[in-house]
Amino acid sequence: MNKEAPIAIFDSGVGGLSVYREIEKLMPNENLIYFGDTARVPYGTRGPATIRRFVKSDLDFLFRFEPKHIIVACGTASCVGAPVLEKECGKHFTSVISPSAIAAAKTTKNGRIGVISTAATLRSGAFEKKIKEILPQAQVFTQAAQMFVNVVENGWIEEDNEIANAVAKEYLKDLKQRDIDTLILGCTHFPLLSAVIQKQMGDGVTLISSGYETALAAKMDLEALGLRNESDMSGSRKCFVSDNINAFFELTNIFLDRQIAKENVELVEIN
Ligand code: DGL
Repeated sequence: MNKEAPIAIFDSGVGGLSVYREIEKLMPNENLIYFGDTARVPYGTRGPATIRRFVKSDLDFLFRFEPKHIIVACGTASCVGAPVLEKECGKHFTSVISPSAIAAAKTTKNGRIGVISTAATLRSGAFEKKIKEILPQAQVFTQAAQMFVNVVENGWIEEDNEIANAVAKEYLKDLKQRDIDTLILGCTHFPLLSAVIQKQMGDGVTLISSGYETALAAKMDLEALGLRNESDMSGSRKCFVSDNINAFFELTNIFLDRQIAKENVELVEIN
């Protein structure tokens, strides 16, 4: 396997930027390809067969670039698409489930862990199962917060945004009664709303960003596979979206620490 081959990162939309941003910081010399399936977002409202079909077509698109590793920067694709990912990628992929579950298990002091995710991820039970494998005595409280995906896709991510705060208040009111000390942001869109979510939950709750934990795990996976790029130059960047290129470009500029040049974002058709 070619160590200089790109790492391909994908999500249903802009949420995977929470992983991309951390990958850029942790491994600036890697060549990165990002695909946001903005024409078919959200995935989290769909059934398993549709999500798996989407994941297969996302992978078929990314395989054209002969990536050395795939990062599934989407909780829904990770949880529901697992059989497709294992079949198509073998050991060459990192998804969001284990890294987030391990971090939560390490963080919690009282064993009471919350998970917010899309509806499809919640139905899969994947986070709960993984947390209990690692910490059998844990009590896990789940909440679907699907509308956060739309809030983020619309760019309403600032701490004082009224819509984001109203949606967060409604979704988090039950979890606030559960005495959790750790909350997994189990959808990669949600770390973009960290400030809003933290404000609602209060300082006593540690947020686990699926974006950050997945990026860290991907770095460890690449090292274990002996696939880290050894170049000391900055890597190349190329982003693809299946719709709404301007909205994507604007959000990357708000959310990423560096700008993505317009010529590095391309519109593609996914079948
Ligand atoms: N970013 C996604 C996730 O982590 C998908 C959100 C969606 O498309 O519903 O689940």
